[in-house]
Amino acid sequence: MKHLLNPLDFTVEEIDELLAVAGDIEKNPSKYAHVCDGKKLATCFYEPSTRTRLSFEAAMLNLGGSVLGFSSADSSSAAKGESIADTIRVISCYADICAIRHPKEGAALVAAMNSGIPVVNAGDGGHQHPTQTLTDLLTIHSLKGRLDNLTVGLCGDLKFGRTVHSLINALVRYPNIRFVLISPPELRVPEYIREDVLKAKNIEFKELGNLDEALPELDILYMTRVQKERFFNEEDYIRLKDCYILTPKKMKLAKSDMYVLHPLPRVNEISVEVDKDPRAAYFKQAQYGVYVRMALIMKLLEVNAPC
Ligand code: NCD
Repeated sequence: MKHLLNPLDFTVEEIDELLAVAGDIEKNPSKYAHVCDGKKLATCFYEPSTRTRLSFEAAMLNLGGSVLGFSSADSSSAAKGESIADTIRVISCYADICAIRHPKEGAALVAAMNSGIPVVNAGDGGHQHPTQTLTDLLTIHSLKGRLDNLTVGLCGDLKFGRTVHSLINALVRYPNIRFVLISPPELRVPEYIREDVLKAKNIEFKELGNLDEALPELDILYMTRVQKERFFNEEDYIRLKDCYILTPKKMKLAKSDMYVLHPLPRVNEISVEVDKDPRAAYFKQAQYGVYVRMALIMKLLEVNAPC
């Protein structure tokens, strides 16, 4: 039985296949309308979510399956003190596949170790968020036509932003990827990403504090919000929350074919006037999240794509 806890749980070939199926789903959605008839997805969300939970649910409904679950820890037996291990054992009796989001790093791994059904990590604390990465890869591939030979700028909260950690993990496997890591000193990427992923794999990267300086060389700009819920003290959050704001004026510094991605939700880091710019791809990205999760559910349930 396969789980998805980290983007590296799939080989590059498996990811290519998933993106190809997602591309076909975009073109021929009706072909897939019944491939998961009778199957159930459980969404176990111990942390807030809009896109991830609802796109998982939309994905399963689009495949003909059904969904059950909870959307906050308060409405589950976690509020009574139940462990994740016990909860997932029980959910395994009710559903065929489970997507779990939890504030603790490693929670999805604990779930997978105790599960009788495939588990998908829909975000574990500030650690990883592999299905957002699949969404990001599909978006980049469809906009740029490739996942290699790119200069990718990641901007904002690179310390706590789990989408950033997963995206770096996934992109370093493609040839000639350069990173420009734009953050205040307090929010730099964690040591394990810098040392064990970037330096260990000899990936070209630089760390900057200034977004303007980075913009002209980027093919992709991946903006992120400052992760309020992971701060220990509110003063630090308030001081750092508006450290980057992408505006139409800043967009003039970027290439005409540089696309802006953001996992969403946005707070202040992209001004709403940028939404009109044809290079703003973040709402399209949210749509791609449904196609790629449809492809993922099929893969984990071992359902073949119809001819
Ligand atoms: C991200 C997350 O939950 O990590 N959101 C999402 O899933 N699209 C990013 C964020 O919350 O900032």
